[in-house]
Amino acid sequence: MKAAIIAGPGQGPVYGDLPAPTPGNGECRIAVTAAAISPVVKSRASGRHYSSSGRFPFVVGIDGVGRRDDGSRVYFALPRAPYGSMAEHSVVRAAQCLLVPDGLDDVTAAAIANPGVSSWAALTERARFKAGETVLVNGATGTAGRLAVQIAKYLGAGKVIATGRDIEALKSVAALGADVTIPLIADGDALEEAFKEQFALGVDVVIDYLWGASAERLLIAAAKAGKDAVPIRFVQIGSVSGAEIT
Ligand SMILES: NC(=O)c1ccc[n+]([C@@H]2O[C@H](COP(=O)([O-])OP(=O)(O)OC[C@H]3O[C@@H](n4cnc5c(N)ncnc54)[C@H](OP(=O)(O)O)[C@@H]3O)[C@@H](O)[C@H]2O)c1
Repeated sequence: MKAAIIAGPGQGPVYGDLPAPTPGNGECRIAVTAAAISPVVKSRASGRHYSSSGRFPFVVGIDGVGRRDDGSRVYFALPRAPYGSMAEHSVVRAAQCLLVPDGLDDVTAAAIANPGVSSWAALTERARFKAGETVLVNGATGTAGRLAVQIAKYLGAGKVIATGRDIEALKSVAALGADVTIPLIADGDALEEAFKEQFALGVDVVIDYLWGASAERLLIAAAKAGKDAVPIRFVQIGSVSGAEIT
């Protein structure tokens, strides 16, 4: 079969041939129709991601959409190594397949699952979010952040605050449902003041895709202006703007 194969450390994916996978007990073979290129896929392909196995060759891609042998259309995640989703066929445990509803096309289903689940799981599982609460999405202009704003609204958020460094992109996030937008301006003190204003009014959950300088200012503002005895659930998901805070 044809696949996007990484042959060795430091090499990019190459369109090549690999024997098609044979499903074992409890596994499904997938005829792939769409595969996602998310940050984790790029990071694993480059060998930098903490979950990279370090074993070669392997097929790029951790999730996608396709047809099982029985014809059912599924979203699948985490194929058995060395197989991946960027190939004609993949193989995955049956429990890691979800039926895709009619009306949702293959490409959209493949593309939204990973970024969408990041905030869905953060809100429902980690933060135990309740309808009516206020959610702040730090880094709301990317794929995952835009979905986080919409998912928070869908789950009944009373107020969603969105941050981003691109003013035009922030306007489009407001159009998606963000009630308040905070531009991530270079002046850290002014940014801290903007955060403090919101924490004084009350913030229940922070979904953070950025870490780095903005998360640092946000945490300081929460400590200074957050209401006494009201716990703020901070869920860090990404570190796009920096791996460290001081
Ligand atoms: N743990 C999980 O399950 C999970 C799942 C999904 C995503 N994630 C992580 O979440 C993060 C976002 O993913 P994504 O799919 O939304 O990526 P994306 O679509 O590429 O979006 C990245 C966003 O980060 C912004 N950004 C980049 N550098 C920045 C900086 N220095 N300061 C402020 N903003 C900056 C970009 O803004 P501009 O538009 O201005 O460039 C863009 O809005 C990644 O770290 C990803 O690995 C984790």
